[in-house]
Amino acid sequence: MTVHLVGAGPGDPELLTLKAARLLGTADVVVHDRLVSPEILAMAAPWAEFVDVGKDPNGRRTSQEQINEILIQRGRCHNTVVRLKGGDPFVFGRGGEEATALEGAGVPVEVVPGITSSIAGPAMAGIPVTHRGVSSAFTVVTAHEDPHKPDSLNWHALAELGTTLVVLMGARRAEKIRGRLLEAGMAGTTPVAIVTEATTARQRVRYLALDELGIEPVANPSVIVIGAVAGSPVLAPNVLSAATSQPHHASPLTTA
Ligand SMILES: C[S@@+](CC[C@H](N)C(=O)[O-])C[C@H]1O[C@@H](n2cnc3c(N)ncnc32)[C@H](O)[C@@H]1O
Repeated sequence: MTVHLVGAGPGDPELLTLKAARLLGTADVVVHDRLVSPEILAMAAPWAEFVDVGKDPNGRRTSQEQINEILIQRGRCHNTVVRLKGGDPFVFGRGGEEATALEGAGVPVEVVPGITSSIAGPAMAGIPVTHRGVSSAFTVVTAHEDPHKPDSLNWHALAELGTTLVVLMGARRAEKIRGRLLEAGMAGTTPVAIVTEATTARQRVRYLALDELGIEPVANPSVIVIGAVAGSPVLAPNVLSAATSQPHHASPLTTA
């Protein structure tokens, strides 16, 4: 009897870990998010019960408290419960809260790390988040903060780092991100790359400058990469396997 907090990776089923695939194939219950692809869900055992707790920004929401309750209840009744989350469960996935709730309720819990979109997204656009001589660090932030609380990010510190900044959940706040970073002194010419639906057949990559961020709408889900590495991709955007992808026509320094 264990609840496994499993990272489903960024979308491509081939980026699932072997451990995640094994657990999925044996799970009695799969509790999953909106961003987990149908191909990955199809890897579950035929007898598995699916519980969709996806938080659609425009529709039904399952509160975190309800999700914790579902996990505790299923965890007490079943041998193997997989809590499947996009990317890595502990990167803006609220996996920490779920682990704490399960532990508090005496339900055994295990984490299975996944490939996070914060690294895989840039990689699919040919962008290494660190690159010798260009950027020796990367910072991952969320632009999705409680609108009723003061901004907890220190945008001046982020702008001054001069290394790679990766923004998750920034699609609707692209203009705000541009404003905050420009106010904090970051140059408007700083390269930016936007990788949308990374690792899926619908992947798109857009390269621009910070000055232009948010002028055009940014689709969801996207990873926004800001910094020198975004201006000098080492590879053209990754073409996915023939079975699942559309070809990309962009050269690394132009718009796809
Ligand atoms: C709630 S956060 C979860 C992050 C996840 N735990 C991870 O490690 O990738 C959701 C955000 O992750 C990013 N994201 C997740 N999957 C993505 C993908 N396939 N392509 C682009 N961005 C993605 C987007 O910024 C999205 O708004």
